[in-house]
Amino acid sequence: MAQETFAPPVSEWYYPSDSVKENAIVRDYESLYAEAQGDLEGFWARQAEKLDWFAPWEKVLDASEAPFYKWFVGAKTNIAYNALDRHIKTWRRNKLALVWEGEPGDKQTFSYWRLWREVNKFANVLKGMGVRKGDRVTVYMGRVPELVIAMLACAKIGAVHSVVYGGFSEHALADRIEDAQSRVLITCDGAWLRGNIVRLKDVVDEAVRRSPIVETVIVVKRTAHDIAMEQGRDYWYHDLMALPIANGNCESVEMDAEDPLFILYTSGTTGKPKGILHTHGGYQVYTSATLEWVFDLKDEDRWWCAADPGWITGHSYIVYGPLILGATSILYEGAPNQPYPNRWWKIVEEYGVTVLYTAPTAIRGLMRFGDAWPNRHDLSSLRLLGSVGEPINPEAWRWFYKVIGKERCPIMDTWWQTETGGFMISPVPSVGLKPGSATRPIPGVEVDVVDDHGVPCPPGVDGNLVIKQPWPGMLRTVYKDPDRFVKQYWTTYQDQGWYITGDSARKDDDGYFWIIGRNDDVIKVSGYRLGTAEVESGLVSHPAVAEAAVIGMPDEVRGSVIYAYCILKAGLEGSDALLDELKNHIRHEIGPIAVPARIEFVPQLPKTRSGKIMRRVLKARATGQPEGDLSTLEE
Ligand code: PRX
Repeated sequence: MAQETFAPPVSEWYYPSDSVKENAIVRDYESLYAEAQGDLEGFWARQAEKLDWFAPWEKVLDASEAPFYKWFVGAKTNIAYNALDRHIKTWRRNKLALVWEGEPGDKQTFSYWRLWREVNKFANVLKGMGVRKGDRVTVYMGRVPELVIAMLACAKIGAVHSVVYGGFSEHALADRIEDAQSRVLITCDGAWLRGNIVRLKDVVDEAVRRSPIVETVIVVKRTAHDIAMEQGRDYWYHDLMALPIANGNCESVEMDAEDPLFILYTSGTTGKPKGILHTHGGYQVYTSATLEWVFDLKDEDRWWCAADPGWITGHSYIVYGPLILGATSILYEGAPNQPYPNRWWKIVEEYGVTVLYTAPTAIRGLMRFGDAWPNRHDLSSLRLLGSVGEPINPEAWRWFYKVIGKERCPIMDTWWQTETGGFMISPVPSVGLKPGSATRPIPGVEVDVVDDHGVPCPPGVDGNLVIKQPWPGMLRTVYKDPDRFVKQYWTTYQDQGWYITGDSARKDDDGYFWIIGRNDDVIKVSGYRLGTAEVESGLVSHPAVAEAAVIGMPDEVRGSVIYAYCILKAGLEGSDALLDELKNHIRHEIGPIAVPARIEFVPQLPKTRSGKIMRRVLKARATGQPEGDLSTLEE
């Protein structure tokens, strides 16, 4: 059952202007798609040839151990080489790579040259701290340039970064440190958000107390408030970068195409978050090719992906994809409405942003403040817009299109996942759009909507969204848990060899795809992915709670919010104080995004005879919908 509300397909078309079409990098989607389907390996080899490799591949795709696919087998490369080193040898050394603005209004710019030097220096620092190829480094920071530098420095020396979003709690951070077994952690003293300091280092101290594997903590000074520094464990970034060891030259280590680049934890159906693993070779080809096709990036562009670098969108489309293409990216630290709801539009005007990529929840949030805020600004530099993270409701789509894009800028609604590494279903600027549809698959990607037996659903009928052939940006495994990788993604359609996405979707008569939402127990809150099991086990870890069930409920701005139902331990009574305590508890266990919008104390939960909680029934009751088939409900 889908978690989100869903607007049915509308037959409303929007076409790009002739000039958008003529200037697009992909002018003929159908031909490019057909080219890929005709010769998949040749197609991806041609994309890969646009990048630099230390040694060529012997084979493009090795499917002999499917679903453990290998791409560009035998090739040697390093994604940091393609993102930085190779640009230094060209005129791009002087081009801006990163334009950063802090929430308080401070600014920094990095040319490719400067970014390359900073990355080299920090890579040498990490080496000096004993970080070696294959070591995992956890990164827990706000949206500052040093986050980008830290990721690239790890890649450069072959270390595997595990970036943990700065909104996660000490508990969530400790779990991720533990799973990755990181001995080095990079953080900030704090981050600015809505005019307040988020005290990141305090969270780190508590997480490291729980996960003492961490030997070294490197701290970027951002908010400059008082923090505790533990002698022999904690070091200031700026002190280390001033040491002779922080030399401005550092070779990019030769990596096998299939060597790990990063782990990114994401919520799944069951239990603990899983570490999605991506590699150097295929990922660099996939992120750069898809970014070029969809967002049409050219040297004169100013690209702004407004996501957090701590999520896959930021990894692929703030850090790696744009740098590989030699693009100029904007990075903004804070909230969109700080100090006023025109902050984003001011940034667009001031920096001449040409392509803006964001999420429906942000669009809906800004839409709420009214048209006057964007209308105060000259947004004429924009030429393309983008959306990601959850289905975009047609109303938000139209607002984005009319009020922000002035009906000139096509909206690229990109469907993809942490697991896919890059866009999977998305328009390119030259195709017709329908608000709410991510349109058709990326060239080289084959997707379909099928029923539980694998039979394709006819147009208009809901089913499971599957991916029918491998792609270079695909996850390689779940870190340290290959069984979970196979079971989660490849067992449902084992005979066909398809990847199951966990989303339900439908096609329409034009072959356009409409994503309905998750059909497993994953809830999208403000575009962030949370597992019901994760939140439930967080609640049950409180001493007052015996059992808990959570569901996602539609919300106008956030897409979904969490409703929780708790059975208290015998003899305990619910109270407002306990409600607050439980909310606080979740804030500490997982983070603010997981805090339920509503918690209800109940004497019982609807369960099947085998004891499974019927969340469907809870949801139907909460929304006032019919409860459907109750034959399996235990009395
Ligand atoms: O349900 C889909 C939704 O987000 C899920 C993936 O979440 P995550 O791994 O956090 O990655 C988000 C950024 C890529 C998908 O299974 N989703 C993502 N993009 C869209 C979407 N749903 C509808 N339309 C989209 N454009």
